[in-house]
Amino acid sequence: MTDKIGVAILAAGQGTRMGMECPKPLVPLFGKALVDYSIEACLGFGKEHKLNVQMGAVVGHQKEKVIEYLRARYEEKMSYPIQEKQLGTADALKSFFSGCDWASKTDYTIVLCADTPLLSKDELTSLWRVIKDKSLDGVAATFEEKNPTGYGRIERGDLGFRIIEHKDASDEQRRLKEVNSGLYIFKTKEIHKLLDGIGSENKSGEFYLTDAFKMGRSVEAVLFTDSSPFKGINNPLQLEEALHLLKKKINRAHQSAGVYLIDSSTTYIEGTVKIDSGATIYPNTYLHGSTKVSKNVVIEPGCIIKDSILGEEVKVKANSYLESTKVDKKCQIGPYARLRPGANLKEGCKVGNFVEIKKAELDKGVSISHLSYVGDAEIGENVNIGCGFITCNYDGEAKHKTTIGKNSFIGSDTQMIAPVNIGESAFVASGSTINQDVPDRAFSLSRGRQVIKENMASRFLKGKWSIKDKK
Ligand code: UD1
Ligand code: MG
Repeated sequence: MTDKIGVAILAAGQGTRMGMECPKPLVPLFGKALVDYSIEACLGFGKEHKLNVQMGAVVGHQKEKVIEYLRARYEEKMSYPIQEKQLGTADALKSFFSGCDWASKTDYTIVLCADTPLLSKDELTSLWRVIKDKSLDGVAATFEEKNPTGYGRIERGDLGFRIIEHKDASDEQRRLKEVNSGLYIFKTKEIHKLLDGIGSENKSGEFYLTDAFKMGRSVEAVLFTDSSPFKGINNPLQLEEALHLLKKKINRAHQSAGVYLIDSSTTYIEGTVKIDSGATIYPNTYLHGSTKVSKNVVIEPGCIIKDSILGEEVKVKANSYLESTKVDKKCQIGPYARLRPGANLKEGCKVGNFVEIKKAELDKGVSISHLSYVGDAEIGENVNIGCGFITCNYDGEAKHKTTIGKNSFIGSDTQMIAPVNIGESAFVASGSTINQDVPDRAFSLSRGRQVIKENMASRFLKGKWSIKDKK
């Protein structure tokens, strides 16, 4: 029979040292909230071992915000037990059992904190193997830390080990380098029994979950040689360190899968981004969210790409900003282009410098090379748009649409006052302001007629421009 696992994510604390208004579990880190990393590690662990895993996040400080965030993301897959007063980690686990009706019916309980984002299913697996193979009542993950200040110290003896919190430790105990990570697995029945016996007679006056580990009990401290997965986030410095460790791990995985990062130290790729082998990414680039990059794409320096899909051989030139867009194969974007949500480019389009595209469909081979705004539009195949083109899509109240049929040529410095439709193979002359539909194959021009007055310039040329030798 498969074991039933309960997961208690302790997320009720204040996180004062972060100095942020946002509750610590929701502090953003590389596209996710801190708490998401702990949840995903547990989900991955359950999936890998085909275990029946049920989770509860113990909330307290700013609980409404934390619950709202988690509900939106994980719906009813999780429970949200409340710890009314933050009386310590043992009290938090008590709240977990009293707030989740399923929690005491599980076989094992995993306890982890909401602030260890580098933890993965692998550490959970190693710990799980120890408790199962040795049939223990509890296991704690530990590691060695050069500067262990703040951590609970592991004191080993003939009868096992115990954990002494930093505040309560003697000078000699403080010199111990092996520390408690805050990740534990317990036999549910055993920890349930032990919790009631934990008191608060210590320097903090808190109920320490670490008191569940005592010499002589059927428990083990499992020392991990690599400490990085257990790094806790208690201040902005640790947040930055975690970000760089995550970044490195993600970049290494892409590099070994055949993605060429010219300078991985300045390339930021969130864990949710997918990149095919053969792509080249220049320095100072940020790829976010659900972005997908196909093979042979080149992304030049300074680009920010969010939730966008780039087809094969797309080139995004320097300093372009793309958000919720779809760019089909062989398109060229930028430099300095902005593609806003709903920009949808078919194969081989060219969007050049200082061009902004919003909620617009560009059919195959459209070219908009310079200084233009195209919003709420449908542009047909092979349309060429000159420099300085504007769709005037907003009348102060509503947005209106511009359509341009295939093979049309739109001259430079033209404006389309939407709603307006240009037919196929039409020609709109430069400098036109178009507010009436133009039929297929028509030529349209709307500008004041040019006037020439011979020798009249002298009336206007003053100062250093005045004309001396008049004819
Ligand atoms: C805890 C451990 C310490 C360990 C360290 C690792 C205890 C007593 N100490 O100390 O041995 O080395 O983690 O990082 O457990 N929380 C609640 N309710 C509370 C108190 C805390 O939900 O009443 C949550 C916090 O939100 C946090 C976690 O429990 O996610 C740990 O609490 P924290 O105050 O950070 O404990 P540490 O002092 O870091
Ligand atoms: Mg902590």
